[in-house]
Amino acid sequence: MDYSKRDVLERGSATIVNCLPEIGRETAVAEIFEGLTAYPKRISSKYFYDKKGSGLFERITVLKEYYLSRTEKTILQDVPLCAITDCADVDIVELGSGDHSKITLLLDKIPEECLPGIRYFPVDISRPALEASIVELSSLFTGLEIHGIVADYIHQMHLVTGKRKKLYCFLGSTIGNLQRDEAMAFVSGISATMLPGDGFLIGFDRIKDVSVLEKAYNDAEGLTARFNRNILNVVNRLIETDFDCEDFEHRAFYNQEDRRIEMHLIASKDMRVNTPLVQDDIVIQKGEMIHTENSHKFDEGDIALFAEHAGLSIAMTFSDEKEWFSLVHLRKT
Ligand code: TRP
Repeated sequence: MDYSKRDVLERGSATIVNCLPEIGRETAVAEIFEGLTAYPKRISSKYFYDKKGSGLFERITVLKEYYLSRTEKTILQDVPLCAITDCADVDIVELGSGDHSKITLLLDKIPEECLPGIRYFPVDISRPALEASIVELSSLFTGLEIHGIVADYIHQMHLVTGKRKKLYCFLGSTIGNLQRDEAMAFVSGISATMLPGDGFLIGFDRIKDVSVLEKAYNDAEGLTARFNRNILNVVNRLIETDFDCEDFEHRAFYNQEDRRIEMHLIASKDMRVNTPLVQDDIVIQKGEMIHTENSHKFDEGDIALFAEHAGLSIAMTFSDEKEWFSLVHLRKT
């Protein structure tokens, strides 16, 4: 990667490079407008994560109802990193890294003298989130080389090149936020860049009791509702609309057929929303839904299918006692 031509920040042994192609304003406007005039209406979940959205999401991950992060962390605590990769000589690439709490649990297991042999590449679409986690990590693990990459990892898979052994991590069941066919293509795409011996650690939220699933996305404190509605603030800034978040209700439910939680915003009244950037108004009827996110759930068969389709073998599956969540170590052979 040519660091010289990009927007780079350096801090001790850490760097951040911006590989996010500027989503031209026009493209964003066109995409959002198209989604809001389609039937059914939708807004891409990539617009959730402004500063406020990222902050709200971090608070969601510690909610009582939101078992995903907590469960994954108890599993991560017991993953023997040195047994699944060569801790003395490896590039760890975390896709959609968010905050530093997950990777910290893995790195905690590494003998300190091994740290100089590890390079950590967190990849995330949010630069503020990356900066914050890099600052924290460099003080927790002095001697660890960190190269943050601001990128849309779904469409930019060849971010870390070179022949060093790699361990890719895709945690938090973020894989569930893709459509099933996109997720399949994504894992295959990463697999195509892997060399024999490289690994891929993926977090999968498992199919379970519907009431447990639905509670996780309908917390009593209403943080998920605020997170969902905040996407309209991001839209307002991008396409100069004046959506009032209060005019929408949060709804999240389990879709049995597609085996996923769906998140929607429901209009509580008829609306005509104007944007100076496009001639036509956005017309919304009372009760109309805007689809903002999917969170697919997986069973063992799904996981086996991912591995098979991508040409990877399942080296190990780590789960909690209730099998609510699984961390799967896939290996290129
Ligand atoms: N991947 C996690 C999940 O699907 C995190 C997540 C993404 C999320 N978007 C969300 C959690 C929206 C709550 C609401 O659960």
